[in-house]
Amino acid sequence: MAKQFDVAVIGAGAAGMMCAAEAGKRGRRVVLIDHGAKLAEKIRISGGGRCNFTNINAGPANFLSENPHFCKSALSRYTPRDFLALVKKHRIAFHEKHRGQLFCDDSAERIIDMLKAECAAGDVNWRMPTRVASVERIDGGFYLATDTGDIEAESVVIATGGLSIPKIGATDFGYRVASQFELRMVEPRPALVPLTFDADSWAPFAPLSGISLEVDVETGALKGRNPDGARFREDLLFTHRGLSGPAILQISSFWRPGAPITIDLLPEMDVAQALIEGKQTVKKQLGNVLAGWLPARLAEGLLQAHGFDGELRLADMQDAALRKLGTAINRWVLTPNGSEGYRKAEVTRGGVDTRELSQQTMMANKVSGLYFIGEAVDVTGWLGGYNFQWAWASGVAAGQAA
Ligand code: FDA
Repeated sequence: MAKQFDVAVIGAGAAGMMCAAEAGKRGRRVVLIDHGAKLAEKIRISGGGRCNFTNINAGPANFLSENPHFCKSALSRYTPRDFLALVKKHRIAFHEKHRGQLFCDDSAERIIDMLKAECAAGDVNWRMPTRVASVERIDGGFYLATDTGDIEAESVVIATGGLSIPKIGATDFGYRVASQFELRMVEPRPALVPLTFDADSWAPFAPLSGISLEVDVETGALKGRNPDGARFREDLLFTHRGLSGPAILQISSFWRPGAPITIDLLPEMDVAQALIEGKQTVKKQLGNVLAGWLPARLAEGLLQAHGFDGELRLADMQDAALRKLGTAINRWVLTPNGSEGYRKAEVTRGGVDTRELSQQTMMANKVSGLYFIGEAVDVTGWLGGYNFQWAWASGVAAGQAA
């Protein structure tokens, strides 16, 4: 018997709206369901309110997944240039900020309006706010029990995202549906998130809160133990409880609990060598020399934390001591005790195991008609517009198939 809808998309965020619009424009009868009272809150707050909607250089190497090949098909069929063409079609002004990151000039609302208009072009039906109580398999499709009336559809697309920022509506709905249909999961954990340290070991650095500087940061892999290891050059920000800023958000996605991170606070300089050379020519005090290279408050804090007297003259110091200080600055090794968690994480790493899904269509291999897209899937982008590009690309892939 014909169903009320061809496609029910659950979750009207970035991936869900993109998918619904694409399926609707193919002539599919689509219903888009969300439990939120306000549409697409994550797009609204993204990129500091200006939405870093893609990264023009996005490619599979910018994504983490247990299967790094999975994202290739969708990303190659819907590229950053395709999304940019849509943005231009809707006359949204944008600019490139940093390393290919594209932002709206005006406001993230423009992207939400654009997606709404695309959904309207596909005659998408809205059910919002609507809570889905259950998803059941029935003959020829699915039955959804909701608090605004039951829905029958041939296909169901789960686009309910990850666990980050519960206060704006994140839930584990997608994971529960996956487990109901016996699909494997990759354990979810917070990613793109500030890292924290135990209060005692952080006490000397807590007063440095607010200081920001460009650093190199790395974790894992380089010693071969963690296949996820990585290195980034980005800005670091000291906070009361630990470290944040783009450098730390990037490395947090690769960091494993218990593992150390290594920070080079002066990546363009061999500090030990510069200090030893300085003994010949610089009659200055150690504190003044360091304050010429680093923010003064940071220089002072580091000297205190590592037990150096800033008033000593370089010329009066042993090479061994200067080497020790150089290492403390160029290879500062520290072990976080955790992260700020889903409350502050920009994304969730892990999710529905990609081995369960078709990389062409995002449909579950063993449940015909059930699709998973966006952040609910075990594909996580770096910081910088990559996560939205995955949402758009996976949304289009499912929208073309469902
Ligand atoms: P998304 O979270 O967008 O949407 C999920 C939808 O499902 C929501 O509307 C939610 O209400 C709904 N939902 C959840 N549970 C439900 C249930 N049980 N029933 C019905 N509906 C349900 N990325 C990027 O590329 N550039 C950027 O600038 C930023 N900036 C940024 C800032 C901040 C503060 C955060 C938290 C995140 C970002 N991101 C980002 C990440 C980006 O926002 C994220 O990866 C995408 O929004 C994921 O898109 P999805 O559609 O998969 O989920």
